[in-house]
Amino acid sequence: MSCQYKIFSGSSHIELAKNVAKNLNVPLGKIDIKSFPDNEICVQVLENVRNRDVFVVQTIANRPNHFFMELLIIVDALKRASAKSITAIIPYFGYARQDRKDKVRVPITAKLIADLLEKAGVTHLMTMDLHADQIQGFFNIPVDNLTARVVFIEKLRDKGLSKDFVIVAPDIGSSKLANRFAKDLQVDLAVIDKRRITPEKVEDIALIGEVEGKDVVIVDDICSTGETLRQASKLCKKGGARKVFALVTHGPFADFNLSDCAIDKLYFTDTIPPKEGIEYVSVAPIFAKAIDLSYTSQSLSSLFCEKEQ
Ligand code: R5P
Repeated sequence: MSCQYKIFSGSSHIELAKNVAKNLNVPLGKIDIKSFPDNEICVQVLENVRNRDVFVVQTIANRPNHFFMELLIIVDALKRASAKSITAIIPYFGYARQDRKDKVRVPITAKLIADLLEKAGVTHLMTMDLHADQIQGFFNIPVDNLTARVVFIEKLRDKGLSKDFVIVAPDIGSSKLANRFAKDLQVDLAVIDKRRITPEKVEDIALIGEVEGKDVVIVDDICSTGETLRQASKLCKKGGARKVFALVTHGPFADFNLSDCAIDKLYFTDTIPPKEGIEYVSVAPIFAKAIDLSYTSQSLSSLFCEKEQ
């Protein structure tokens, strides 16, 4: 029997969508995405999706407003073409950092994005290393918050990291992510107490934990300007760390110069289109596996490094 689900791609990261489809040995669904002369987005799905489970890959980065709107329009077209279910695969969930009202008169954009996706017709979301786990609660549909930890850990093993290393969270916000790495790898954890002065400027206050004479692996969900990594890596070296590795799921978003940091090896993933010269590991196999397991009604626990209950 031929495959009954279909995978479509928005225009934000076609390479990743192609790789996801390739991992599943299925072609990408045909879709026409154009702009009208006034720059409005115009979409037509070019194949039958009636009563099918469909997956739409679209990352919300680089031109987040444009690509998010494009995603909503694709979902609307699929819904009106009678798709049975619509899973949005958003490898990088943009607007996630504004997830609480911590100042007067500020929005909660992560909640707004969730509402708009649901309203458009998304019935299921797959994403990766969300900035905060609780964003899942902004949705009233199932959310699979996948993790790049699996591919990163494979990479570390390949790179022959010394046995005696420490995982470092570059700020308190990353400590949950770092703790999961430390637990999976059964190594110690250190945390940096970071204060952010402006969106571009951070000030390291203290390193909590022991790194002297050890290799360290800094883990973070996002690298925007690279300032957090720069400060964290310097602090680790100052604390006597030997080699400094860094693993960051999403980014870098701004131009980023590794030579400014005290990092020996840095890996990103391809949740956003990789910039030239950046070393990355692909998350396409993870999303492909998630589609396959989900479509065949199996548990996704193995993708979260957890044992099935
Ligand atoms: C902050 O909470 C995030 O986890 C990252 O540490 C932050 O977004 C990185 O930004 P930048 O690279 O600009 O320091």
